[in-house]
Amino acid sequence: MAVATTTSNSTTQKNRYTFTALLFITLFLFAIFVFSKRALEPSLLLYKDLLPKIPSFSSSLTHSNLSLLNSTTPLKVAVDPPSPPLPCPPPPPSGTDSPSPEPEEPPTHQPISSNSETDEPTESNDGTEQDPGSGNGNPFGEMGEIGCDLYAGTWVKDEHYPLYEPRSCPYVDEAFDCQSNGRSDSEYLKWRWKPQGCDLPRFNATDFLVRLRGKKLMLVGDSMNRNQFESILCLLREGLHNKSRMREIHGHKITKGRGYFVFKFEDYDCTVEFVRSHFLVKEGVRINAQGSSNPTLSIDQIDKTAKRWKRADILVFNTGHWWAHGKTARGKSYYKEGDYLYPKFDASEAYRRALRTWANWIDHNINPSKQLVFYRGYSSAHFRGGDWDSGGSCNGEKEPVLSGAILDNYPLKMKIVDEVIKDMRIPVRLLNVTRLTNFRKDGHPSIYGKNATAGKKVSTRKQDCSHWCVPGVPDAWNELIYATLVLQKTNSKSKIS
Ligand SMILES: *[C@@H]1O[C@H](CO)[C@@H](O)[C@H](O)[C@H]1NC(C)=O
Ligand SMILES: *[C@@H]1O[C@H](CO)[C@@H](O)[C@H](O)[C@H]1NC(C)=O
Ligand SMILES: *[C@@H]1O[C@H](CO)[C@@H](O)[C@H](O)[C@H]1NC(C)=O
Ligand SMILES: *[C@@H]1O[C@H](CO)[C@@H](O)[C@H](O)[C@H]1NC(C)=O
Ligand SMILES: *[C@@H]1O[C@H](CO)[C@@H](O)[C@H](O)[C@H]1NC(C)=O
Ligand SMILES: *[C@@H]1O[C@H](CO)[C@@H](O)[C@H](O)[C@H]1NC(C)=O
Repeated sequence: MAVATTTSNSTTQKNRYTFTALLFITLFLFAIFVFSKRALEPSLLLYKDLLPKIPSFSSSLTHSNLSLLNSTTPLKVAVDPPSPPLPCPPPPPSGTDSPSPEPEEPPTHQPISSNSETDEPTESNDGTEQDPGSGNGNPFGEMGEIGCDLYAGTWVKDEHYPLYEPRSCPYVDEAFDCQSNGRSDSEYLKWRWKPQGCDLPRFNATDFLVRLRGKKLMLVGDSMNRNQFESILCLLREGLHNKSRMREIHGHKITKGRGYFVFKFEDYDCTVEFVRSHFLVKEGVRINAQGSSNPTLSIDQIDKTAKRWKRADILVFNTGHWWAHGKTARGKSYYKEGDYLYPKFDASEAYRRALRTWANWIDHNINPSKQLVFYRGYSSAHFRGGDWDSGGSCNGEKEPVLSGAILDNYPLKMKIVDEVIKDMRIPVRLLNVTRLTNFRKDGHPSIYGKNATAGKKVSTRKQDCSHWCVPGVPDAWNELIYATLVLQKTNSKSKIS
């Protein structure tokens, strides 16, 4: 027992000596290291100076993501370093979408009230232009922070509208070119959207282009989004001194048959693009027992065009009208999850799941510090006495609906959108345009979606009461995108009164 204790004591003592010695040596080595490092430093610095000073890509990205949402000094920030502006992303491969003709848009049934002879809303003086302050808040702050609900309001008459002359813009395709197609009334062009608590910042095409410098704005969705796309091209075109300084990079003319367009604005090094995706989730086909092929929709898989979405700086999505018609609405042997084809499935639940698939993709593929995502809400249709495929009409409507229950119409699909967006990790801006479209029974092409060639009488049988004339209602949606870019910077600083 005693022997063992002595042995252990001597071992401890030995360890202590070793430890002290090691500590001393370590300190000594450390001192040498510190001195030698100081001695070496000048030469290291010299070496560093000799390295070429390449403005790093990451630093220019930082500038660019700031300028996306920063209204104060976006230009200066981008120009500051003596480096060239952020290059436009490489041009995408030429449009490979098969030019299968786009079927007629299937709008929903929505009866319209008869011409209401209500008072015209009083004209309000604009000029409440926002002074872009140097807001310092989170650039992706909640929309509520701007202190005004941009979507609760009314339309007011404004003789400064439309923002571009009808027939002046070459990017309006025949289906929306109402004035060229013979629509002779023009009061429908002179309405401005007026939020209750504020005015939208006055639309400034040049300023919009400055904010888009070096960026890619992409609209993804159905023909309603193509409608909006043509409007934004026309709006931005007004900001160009030389109107030839924008072009579709493959020379494509906009038609409903093609699913992909890229317009480049030469002087701003930016592109505005349209990617057709009717459902945002994956369409497929299956061969049935009789050997014929039937369409399917995989509500748990993102659309194949999603690889293009990733490259955009600002995205504007929509889907809606296609869910209300034919096989999509019936849902018989159409919806798929995994390999399972549902014999029957509810279209609203399918819409919810498809949107969740989209939301999940956004949450995992979008960088909120660099990219901005909008979802454009449901655009209302106005068919009298029938539906889009059963003789419904809206011709002869020259005034908006100014009151009535129709204005409060907020479809189930929009409630689903609200619910899905609320649960997302990435903030998505809802362009909540449903209400403002409820008013505008006067804004549809109706019988003016086709040019009446000499001698041929226009059919009043099949009318388009779901898309919009351009110029027209979609201009307001784009004004709301512009307003979002302008206002969210200045959030806490300048509350709009
Ligand atoms: C806007 O840009 C300025 C200058 O770069 C910067 O000081 C400011 O913090 C930015 N504001 C926001 C909200 O990003
Ligand atoms: C439509 O037809 C009219 C003549 O009826 C013509 O002046 C106009 O240029 C045509 N518009 C388009 C877009 O073809
Ligand atoms: C529009 O924006 C441009 C560029 O920011 C600016 O120079 C111009 O003064 C603005 N125009 C109006 C009418 O505010
Ligand atoms: C406008 O731009 C086009 C295309 O870049 C060019 O060919 C033309 O000369 C320009 N016109 C003027 C007046 O600058
Ligand atoms: C801009 O992007 C860079 C690089 O991803 C990131 O580090 C930075 O936080 C971003 N800035 C803002 C204001 O989002
Ligand atoms: C969109 O507007 C409707 C009224 O038209 C409103 O009920 C709904 O809550 C709004 N959605 C969001 C997310 O603000």
